Amino acid sequence: MSTREPVGPTALACVAPSPLQLDGFAWSLLAATEAAAAAAQPWVGRGDPKAADRAAVAAMREALGGVPGRGVVVVGEGEKDDAPMLYAGEELGTGDGPAFEIAADPLEGTTYCAEGRPGAIAILAASEPGGLWSTPGYYADKLVVPEQAADVVDLGAPIEDNLLALARALGKPPDRLEIAILAKPRHEGLIRRARALGVRVHAMPDGDVLAALRVLLPGGDLDGVFGVGGAPEGVLVACATKVLSGTFLFRHAPASDAEAGLLEQLPPAERFATLATDDLARGPAVVAASGVTMSELLDRPRATRAGLEVSSLVLASGRAAFVRRVVAPA
Ligand code: FBP
Repeated sequence: MSTREPVGPTALACVAPSPLQLDGFAWSLLAATEAAAAAAQPWVGRGDPKAADRAAVAAMREALGGVPGRGVVVVGEGEKDDAPMLYAGEELGTGDGPAFEIAADPLEGTTYCAEGRPGAIAILAASEPGGLWSTPGYYADKLVVPEQAADVVDLGAPIEDNLLALARALGKPPDRLEIAILAKPRHEGLIRRARALGVRVHAMPDGDVLAALRVLLPGGDLDGVFGVGGAPEGVLVACATKVLSGTFLFRHAPASDAEAGLLEQLPPAERFATLATDDLARGPAVVAASGVTMSELLDRPRATRAGLEVSSLVLASGRAAFVRRVVAPA
């Protein structure tokens, strides 16, 4: 039987019984994902992913301008889709205070937002200078499992071996495992093989960062994330893994000759090897995420009499806390 309790604010309240003591820096980061989530609201369901992304990016950029310190964007996300983005090397923050690095995806699940479907979030992570790795690559094979399964999975192993090892580590039969795999043509075989073992596969069109959070959070409702997804998103997942524990493995999986060419600027150890959490998130990390549309973890922003209430998650100092704040006029 699983020892994991249901995910959600109630379960997490048990993990952090006293409110997480967030310092001013973490609150400022949270304000940036809240701003992105609020700015994307007018674009939910309008069928215009680029406009939604643009609104979220602009709002996050403006809010990050108010974070005390000297921030530099290391991972901006968006190159592969030619999407609006924060640019690597872009300097943000008040310019007065400690230096920090940023990895951001102002709108993860852009299509979900545009289609008015669940699963869109705004997310960013920050670390000390040198704390965040970056890659020119677009795609990577990634694997996320809970802490109990550390050391039993191997990105080079067949999915059957990994799933059986995961089931043993979590103390449940394979048909009680629930994993996420992006529902892409490249994963048809992987999904079929996992299901052939009896494993329940949540085949989701987008959103492997949110799926990773659902594995990593105490009481998470998923047991693993498998398959190829965005490489920059891997840095965000590594930061979340760093705060929460768990296992995250990453190996570049270029989808074209052009992308393989871009990887040539990396040392072979980073280009071909399997990397892990500490390779991508080298320093202590803070992660903030806010709900843009409804999801298993976060509500969509709600109009209240006081204004627009945004539902967020903050990960810092080894702990997780859900936060709801009114951030803008409704
Ligand atoms: P967006 O931030 O563009 O919405 O990306 C969502 C996402 O599904 C990620 O979660 C995932 O890592 C990546 O895109 C997969 O990329 P692709 O859709 O090109 O396979």
